[in-house]
Parts: sequence; C-alpha cells; structure tokens
Amino acid sequence: MKILFVSPEVSPLVRTGGLGDVVGSLPLALREIGLDVRILCPLHKECKDIPRILFPKPISFRLGKKKYTFFVSSTKLEKSEVPVYFIGNDVLFNRSGIYSDEKGDFPDNALRAFALSKAAVELEKSIGWEAEIFHAHDWMAASTCAFINAIKGTYKRKVGSVLTIHNLEHQGTFSYQDFLDSHLPTKYWGMEGFEHNGALNLLKGGIQHATKLTTVSPTYAQEIKTVEFGQGLEKSLLYRAGDLVGILNGIDESSWDPSRDSALAGKIQIATADEGKDVCKSTLQKEFSLAQEPKVALFGVVSRLYNQKGLDLLLKIIPSLLQNSKSQFVILGSGDSHQERAFSEFAQRNPTRIATSIGFDDELARRIFAGSDFFLMPSRFEPCGLAQQYAMRYGSIPIGRETGGLADTIVSHPSGQDLSNGFLFKDATPQGLNEVIHKALSLFEKQLEFFEIRKNAMQRRFSWVTAAEKYAKTYTWALGK
Ligand code: GLC
Repeated sequence: MKILFVSPEVSPLVRTGGLGDVVGSLPLALREIGLDVRILCPLHKECKDIPRILFPKPISFRLGKKKYTFFVSSTKLEKSEVPVYFIGNDVLFNRSGIYSDEKGDFPDNALRAFALSKAAVELEKSIGWEAEIFHAHDWMAASTCAFINAIKGTYKRKVGSVLTIHNLEHQGTFSYQDFLDSHLPTKYWGMEGFEHNGALNLLKGGIQHATKLTTVSPTYAQEIKTVEFGQGLEKSLLYRAGDLVGILNGIDESSWDPSRDSALAGKIQIATADEGKDVCKSTLQKEFSLAQEPKVALFGVVSRLYNQKGLDLLLKIIPSLLQNSKSQFVILGSGDSHQERAFSEFAQRNPTRIATSIGFDDELARRIFAGSDFFLMPSRFEPCGLAQQYAMRYGSIPIGRETGGLADTIVSHPSGQDLSNGFLFKDATPQGLNEVIHKALSLFEKQLEFFEIRKNAMQRRFSWVTAAEKYAKTYTWALGK
C-alpha cells in the first residue's frame, strides 16, 4: 500500500513538538511491515541546507488570485529508506519559524496550509509516484482531505484519506475570504464543511472530509467527543464517531535508549538501573548547582509552559513543597512568559532546591529524564504525551493527570504495587497535584517498592510496532477493503 504523510513538521529535520516526532518515527515502523510510506513537508528555511535531489518538474496551481510554483526536492529520513519530499516556495515557506515568528502567527497561514494540502494532491505530477492513502496531520494539512474529495471522480485508482488529530486545541481559524483563496468547491463552505461559527476552521473541514480519523490515544478519542475536551468541535467529532479511532503513539526506541545515549554521563540499564541513575542524578545536580543529595527526591519537568500542561498548578504549591518536603526540581521549558518568570524566580531564591532553564534543549531534556527520580506532567488535557514515555524509559517515574494518553500509558494502582509504573491524579487543582506528589515522596522513602515501580516504568513497551499495525488496518478500512 502506498501512503503519503502530509505534515508541516518532521523530526529531526524540522520540529516544534510531538507532531514532528511522530511523523519522523511512525513511517519507519510502517515500512517495517511492508507499507510504502513517504512524507511531504514544506521546505522551511531550516530545511534548505539539507542535501536534496531536485525533481525536474515543479508543480504549480492557483491560490487566491496568484499562481504559485513549488519546486519539488527529496531526501531520506535519517538511517532509513523513507523518502521525504519538500515543496519549496520562497514567498510562502522561506522564513524563520514554521507557524509564527516573534511578531506572532503568520498572517498568511491559511494560504500556506492550503498550499501544503493542495501540493499533496498535485505531487504525483512531479514525482510520478501515486499515493493510495493521503495521511494528513493536524490543521495545516487537514484540507488535503477536501482537495482529494474535490477531484475524487477523476482518480483511476482507489484513494482514501486519513486525518490524525494530534491536538484539538490548534484548529487553524481564519476568515471566509481565506476559504475562497483555496478554490475548493463553494459547497465545501457551511456547517458540513469548513465553516465553524461563521469562520474558516481548517481542522473542522478536515474532520468533515477525511475518509477516516485518528487521534493519538484511545482515551483522547473518547474525550474529544465531549464538551469538556472537544474545544467546540465535539459535534463534528460525534457526527464522525463511527470513523474515529484512537491509536496510542509509540516512541523512537533507538533514539531514546538510555543504555546508549551519548548525552548521558552514566548509561542506564534495567538490571542495574540504580547505578546509572545515581550517576545521572548527581551529574544533573552538579550541572545546576543543586545540593548534592542522593536521598532527596528530584522531580523533573520538560514541557512547553502553556495552560494545557498545567504547570501553573505546580507553581502554586512549590512554596509549601519547599517547606514541607525533601525535594528538588529541575524545570526545562518555555512558553507563557508569566510562568517562565515565576519558575526562574523560584530558582533564584532557592538555588540549591530548584533549577530552571528556559528554552528547548534536546540533550538537557535527556539529562533531566535520566537524572530525575520522578517526572511531572500535570496536563489539563494530553492527546498522547511523549515526554512521560521518554521519562519512563529513562527510569523517571511519571506523575500525570488522569487524562488522554497519560491515562493510557501510566498505570497507577491505589495500593501502589503490582503493575504500577507511575502515579495518576484526577483533579486539575493544586491540592490534587500536591497530594500525588506527597504519595510519590512516601514511595521514595521505601526503596524496594520505589525500585519495583521504576522497573515497571522502564519495562513498559514503547515501540511503534502495535501502533503501526493499527494504522495499517485504518488505511485498509479507508480504502473500503
Ligand atoms: C501534540 C499533543 C501531544 C502528542 C503529540 C504527538 O503535541 O499535545 O499530546 O503526544 O502531539 O501526537
């Protein structure tokens, strides 16, 4: 089966978050089970230096009043045979940032999204390879599903589309005028198409038009059909519920391998985890000038600092945790400037207990996963979440809110033993988080149980194999076979 992934990001070539990680690793697993998967991505400025092969024939089409030409070039995904095709157009894509720059979101994002989506359908004219499944990721690629439907009658082969929702919060909302720029059939406007509350909503258009829909965990697939989690699109999702499945993301096990990770001071193996963990913890404490205390529980955070991630709850309880517990915190993240400042101030005032690093740094993230005893993820909602999975593999016991992919990856039995591999808590309140952190602290005092749960976390299966099989089934389903 031939599948074209359509995505604004693909790790490690260009990424802002989990979406890029998934698009950069799932295709490898799909190839392993015999699917011919390829990826289409815009030639962002940061991709320009990648060695690429240029196709002689560009593609071009009209958007709004202008005709745009896209140069097609290709490379292969790291250490694999998965082709990545780029569409290059300097006016639309040669800029710093994927969706925004320091001035905010790009004003022509609707046009850029239509360009990527329509290019997916036109690509075969340049490269000669014809996809059967167009697999679109998130709002920027979502309208691919509509461009296909618009010409479905002209295909001489069976064609289907799959839209994966990585995060319902980002929908791509623009105006009716922007919709007209797409030259999609005007009947695609309206309640059953791209219109949502009088505006253009790219994700909604995709939800209405995709042959099949997936999201990145079974629990999130249920949650998004409710008012609480549906971000206003719950009615569309309920309407399409029969075509929607939740498939839990895996992680790239070879890139995230604590027994071979060159970013770490000590290598971590399940059988001898305490040795490797001790080295990584004391190195992390030294790096941030925290007190060198092996017996103090170290909590790690690697996150974007937005409302979704719930770290404002942690900010509220840090003063009491500092007073009433033996604990240290290392926080890596960026986003909301209020949260950035608040975490930095706590670190300045308590330099032996709290360290804050603002930004994103892949190697530091790895050192935090490896050097922390517990990993905090108090998300208000979490479609899947990759960080808790990286943390588990690196022997940091996850503490997450019972939602989305956190609920699907973290096992937390009330008694704490057996198969537990972390902690879940229900209420997104400072008290809820405080209680669960104290549970973790008391586990930390009981070494044997702590080791047991850490071992369970490290032994969890993370690979993409199961997910790949579920995607393969979804593709077959989308082709009506
Ligand atoms: C988004 C979601 C996150 C998910 C990732 C990959 O970033 O917020 O939960 O893990 O996409 O699917």
